[in-house]
Amino acid sequence: MKILITGGAGYIGSHVAKALLEENKHELTIIDNLCKGSQKAIEALRSVGEFEFIETSLEDVARLDEIFKTHKFDAIIHFAAFIEVFESTQKPLKYYLNNTSNAINLITLCNKYGVKNFVFSSTAATYGEPDEAQVSESTSQNPINAYGRSKLMTEWVLKDTAAANRNFKYAILRYFNVAGASLDGLLGQNYPNATHLIKVATQTILGKRDKMSIFGDDYDTKDGTCIRDYIHIEDLANAHLSALRYLKDNDSNIFNVGYGTGYSVKEVIEAAKEVSGVDFKVEMAPRRDGDPACLIANSDRLRSLTDWKPVNDDLKVIIKSALEWENKA
Ligand code: UFG
Repeated sequence: MKILITGGAGYIGSHVAKALLEENKHELTIIDNLCKGSQKAIEALRSVGEFEFIETSLEDVARLDEIFKTHKFDAIIHFAAFIEVFESTQKPLKYYLNNTSNAINLITLCNKYGVKNFVFSSTAATYGEPDEAQVSESTSQNPINAYGRSKLMTEWVLKDTAAANRNFKYAILRYFNVAGASLDGLLGQNYPNATHLIKVATQTILGKRDKMSIFGDDYDTKDGTCIRDYIHIEDLANAHLSALRYLKDNDSNIFNVGYGTGYSVKEVIEAAKEVSGVDFKVEMAPRRDGDPACLIANSDRLRSLTDWKPVNDDLKVIIKSALEWENKA
């Protein structure tokens, strides 16, 4: 297959690129403007296999048009996006422009040049504050921050476009909390000033931060801190390959990607202390804007309809791989 990956120098995009290169049967083009993605990831991927890398921004529609015209892609896997919930509450337009408008540009080009398959990196943040303990794909979507809304709008654009054009199919993957690094140590989370819990915990273990904060312990959860479903990056990456295979013989679909197990912030911090043997300093802080209390995936659809088989469903494996990566960074 001829595949275009947008945001392939980023955390998730680079792991998916690695998994595709390891399959050794695709022609891969990666585009990234390197604003969050890293050149280091591109160099690391060169040791896995051959691919084309084009440094460009999704805003440069003329350049994208040229790329689509000359490549005749079979599929696009679209990662390039901003992902920080709190930042989206402060700078919503930044999110709507990149995550929604730029995605519409890409979908338009797919239609113009006959690209048949679109795998979209969506998010559990589109569910907002769900009532159910485990969220299924049919749970109603009421996002509570601009990040979630920016992704949900793109989901709508994909659905409407596919309804109007029978030659265009999508797989929407709604990620839960992705963490960890590739187990062979080749790739991990590179961008500076990361705000994600496990990344922050590993930086605190290593003394890159003096302490870390728990954002709120007055939520309606077992220990008052927020609950999330943490999934190892390699299992998440493999879900994209399963989705591509699924689209070959099936119609468009939407899949939650998580393990179905929830851990509170306090439990993650305890596990990080156990894995590292370091009793790092943790302080209580007020709630962070935009955080729902609990997000756990029901991923039955992905497990039953595709060939996805998760292999790293273990919080300690996730934290250990993140720590090993952070130690080298
Ligand atoms: N948290 C802390 N201290 C920190 C960092 C995070 O207490 O230093 C807490 C947050 O308040 C939240 C939980 O840890 O309750 C997880 O926060 P993350 O920042 O790691 O992740 P989010 O749940 O906010 O968001 C992530 C992705 C989104 C995705 C969402 C799906 O960034 O793209 O998971 O659940 F939508």
